[in-house]
Amino acid sequence: MSLTAKASVTSYIESNKKRFLDELFELLRIPSVSADSKYKTEVARAAEYVKTSLEQAGVDKAEIYPTPGHPVVYAEKIVDPKLKTVLVYGHYDVQPPDPLELWKTPPFEPQIRDEKIYARGSCDDKGQVFMHIKALEVMISTGGPPCNIKFLIEGEEEVGSDNLANFTRQHKEKLKADVILISDTAIIANDTPSIDVGLRGLSYVEVEVTGPNHDLHSGVYGGAVANPIQILCEMITKMKDHNNHITIPGFYDDVMVLSDRERGELNKAPYNEKEYKKELGVEELAGESGYTTLERTGIRPTFELNGILGGYTGEGAKTVLPSKAFAKISMRLVPQQKSEKITQLFTDYFTSIAPKSVKVRITPHHGGEPVVTPTDSPAYRAAAAAMEETFGKKPIPTRGGGSIPIVAMFEQELGLKSVLMGFGLDSDLIHSPNEHFGLFNFFKGIETIPLFYRNYAAS
Ligand code: BES
Ligand code: MN
Ligand code: MN
Repeated sequence: MSLTAKASVTSYIESNKKRFLDELFELLRIPSVSADSKYKTEVARAAEYVKTSLEQAGVDKAEIYPTPGHPVVYAEKIVDPKLKTVLVYGHYDVQPPDPLELWKTPPFEPQIRDEKIYARGSCDDKGQVFMHIKALEVMISTGGPPCNIKFLIEGEEEVGSDNLANFTRQHKEKLKADVILISDTAIIANDTPSIDVGLRGLSYVEVEVTGPNHDLHSGVYGGAVANPIQILCEMITKMKDHNNHITIPGFYDDVMVLSDRERGELNKAPYNEKEYKKELGVEELAGESGYTTLERTGIRPTFELNGILGGYTGEGAKTVLPSKAFAKISMRLVPQQKSEKITQLFTDYFTSIAPKSVKVRITPHHGGEPVVTPTDSPAYRAAAAAMEETFGKKPIPTRGGGSIPIVAMFEQELGLKSVLMGFGLDSDLIHSPNEHFGLFNFFKGIETIPLFYRNYAAS
């Protein structure tokens, strides 16, 4: 891209800002909550909207593929089959907006406040997907993209991408590309660009602990019969020792140990503990002994409770010794750990520590494998140079704590590596009430993406 071409990109964005936002807002108004079946038609409507947006941006063709779950949107702009091809992945589904009462403005009525777009999905991932659609429009209006671009935008990322592996296997030819580009992660700060070069994997399980075969009067039976809530809590307590080290036998066996030099590199990323605690409203941080916060979230596996349920939780008091207690548990995994193996190790251990007074049932949910992405590839360098140009600073390679399970799946099924060029911030409250995405970040993305293509096509 010449200097004049670059200037025309900037002026095109400048003169279309308002429309870009209006169009994004329309997508944000669609409650495409993949986890909840009552939103199924809304999820389908979001897929249609993404397809139409891609068509309007100027793709050659855009298609919707139904799956046993939510549909996949595929589109392509083939400039010349001899040129390189980038496959853009993203998701148009969103997390449930609950708890609703904590939103300052309704989750599906986008609003701009303090230069930020507030809505469920504004950052994760509709806003970031839309940057790519608008970047394509910008490129087409200013001379055309310098290589081929394919889009794969799915509707099941937030529920484990159950049907995407099958879709990928069935459409290997269609999805042929040289690299995958994803904007579904965060940068360190608006004045500190970064690119994620690793994501954690995931094992997600639900446990059910059953004591007596029906709820009991806590006075008549209490003291004589095991309380499943108490037992569940005791079992959970046994999952970590006083160093916050996970006690599941074999859990750490496959964990890749980083060299002191690699750990040193990782810890060079800016991190202000005081700010971090202040933002979260905690006096003290807690985690595995011997590791820094950046290590605890980047290169170490975790065991977290996501939800716990049992007994009476309604208004007032009810004296009951409940029959059942439940918990939802996620374990984040790091390179060389395998989600299936970890789920099995958890199952074996959890079963082995259950007292005879209760029965346990374990239901595995989705899983995903950890990944590390290369920093010495042409695509990474193209992304880093693009960000350096628009942010005025070289991006720092970092390890993201979240999971995007399809990254490892694409590597396995398509033999393709990904570049995780995200533009969100960790403080954007993704998955929480009041999720938002900075206008700065949205437009910075639209500005940076064409430079990525320019750099990559030239490499
Ligand atoms: N975009 C996130 C993942 C993410 C967030 C990566 C921030 C790095 C930094 C994605 O939509 C997500 O939420 N993934 C889920 C996994 C999925 C299997 C439900 C997650 O990480 O919990
Ligand atoms: Mn996401
Ligand atoms: Mn998410």
